Amino acid sequence: MRPALLARLVCPRCQGPLSLTVGELQAAKAGDPSGDWIESGSLACAPCAATWPIEHGVPDFVPRDDRADVQQTTSGFARNWDEFNQVINAHQALNDELFRDWIHPLDPERFRGKLVMEAGCGMGRWLRVAASYGPRELIGVDYSSIAFTAAKNLRDLPDVHVVRADILHMPFKRELEYIYCLGVVHHTPEPARTFDALVDKLGPQGAMCVWVYGAENNGWIHHVVTPVREKVTSKLPHPVLAGLSKLLALQLYGAAAAYHAGLEKLGFPYADYLRYLRRYPFKYMEHIVYDHLVPQIAHYHSRGELQGWAEKNQLAYQLSPRNGNSWRLHVARDAKLLPEEKPDPAMAWRKSSEPAASKA
Ligand SMILES: C[S@@+](CC[C@H](N)C(=O)[O-])C[C@H]1O[C@@H](n2cnc3c(N)ncnc32)[C@H](O)[C@@H]1O
Repeated sequence: MRPALLARLVCPRCQGPLSLTVGELQAAKAGDPSGDWIESGSLACAPCAATWPIEHGVPDFVPRDDRADVQQTTSGFARNWDEFNQVINAHQALNDELFRDWIHPLDPERFRGKLVMEAGCGMGRWLRVAASYGPRELIGVDYSSIAFTAAKNLRDLPDVHVVRADILHMPFKRELEYIYCLGVVHHTPEPARTFDALVDKLGPQGAMCVWVYGAENNGWIHHVVTPVREKVTSKLPHPVLAGLSKLLALQLYGAAAAYHAGLEKLGFPYADYLRYLRRYPFKYMEHIVYDHLVPQIAHYHSRGELQGWAEKNQLAYQLSPRNGNSWRLHVARDAKLLPEEKPDPAMAWRKSSEPAASKA
C-alpha cells in the first residue's frame, strides 16, 4: 500500500480515523526510491480498538468467519483470475475495448481528475484501463485473495491503490466521485443491499455504473444452468472444473466461429453474445466459462428490479441492455452527472438495439 491511501480510509465499523503502523517498507518500483510501498504493517482504530493487517502490500479488512457460500464464490473466482492473470494482462487493447463497452455510454474520460473506485476489481484488468484515463486516485477493492495479485499487477501505477474488503463494510469516507462495479453485485447474497452499500460511499457529486446479469433472455440459464451450477459445478474439484471449462469453451469458440461464418441466418438466439465472444482468444474464453460455472452465488436481475434499486436510493438513472442478456445501470445523485445517451458502440459483434430506459 502507498502511504497516500491512509487519507482515504476510515474504520469500517465506527467510521473513526485509522492510524498506521509500518512493518516492512519497500520502494514501490525497483530502483525508484521516490515512491514508498508499505509491504506489511497494520491499521488501527482508536475509538473501537479494532486492528487490521497489511500483508503483501494490501490492507485487509475481510472477516474470516463469513458465510460459506460467500467464501466459496469469492475464492473460486480468485483461483480462476489468478490462473489466467498473464493471459488477461497480455490483452490490454482488448481490455480497453471491452471496458468501454461494459460502461457504455459513459466516456471513461469522465474519470479524469476524479477520485474513482472499482468495487470487486479481481486481478485489476479494468483498473489498469481506468488508470489510463487519468483519475486523481483510483482504488480497487476485492473481497478475495485476488486483491494481492491486483496489488502486484498495479504496483507500478503511482495513484492506484488496492484494498481487500467486503463491499458491505468498506473502509472509505463518503467522498467517492465515481464508482464502477462490473460483474460483482449479482454474485453477492443480497444484491440490493450490496447496491445500497456502494451508493452509501458516493460523495455529493457522485455517480456510479453497475453491470449485472439480466433476467431477460436468460430464462433457460435460470432454469437449466443455475441448478446445475448450484448443485454440481460449484462443488467440483478445481482440476475437474478446469477440464470441463476447456471442453465447453471449445464448443463456444466453435459456435462463435460458426456465427462469424454466417450461420446466424438460421435464427439461433444469442447472436449479439456470440458475436461479442468472437472478440476473445480461446484462453480468455476458457476463463469466462470457468467464471460462469464456479460461483455458488449468481442472481439474474430484471429491468424493473434495477429501476427499483435506483428509485429507492433517490438516484437519477439510465439503464441499457448489453448483448441482450445483461444490464448496464448508471446512477447519479444529480441527473446532470449521468452519461449522455448514445447508441451502442458500432462494434462488429452487435446489431440489435433495444431501447434504453432512464429517469432524471
Ligand atoms: C466475476 S469477478 C469480476 C472481477 C472484475 N470486476 C472484472 O470484471 O475483471 C467478481 C469479483 O467480485 C469479487 N467480489 C464478490 N463479492 C464481493 C464483495 N462482497 N465485496 C468485494 N468483492 C467481491 C470477487 O472476489 C471477484 O473478484
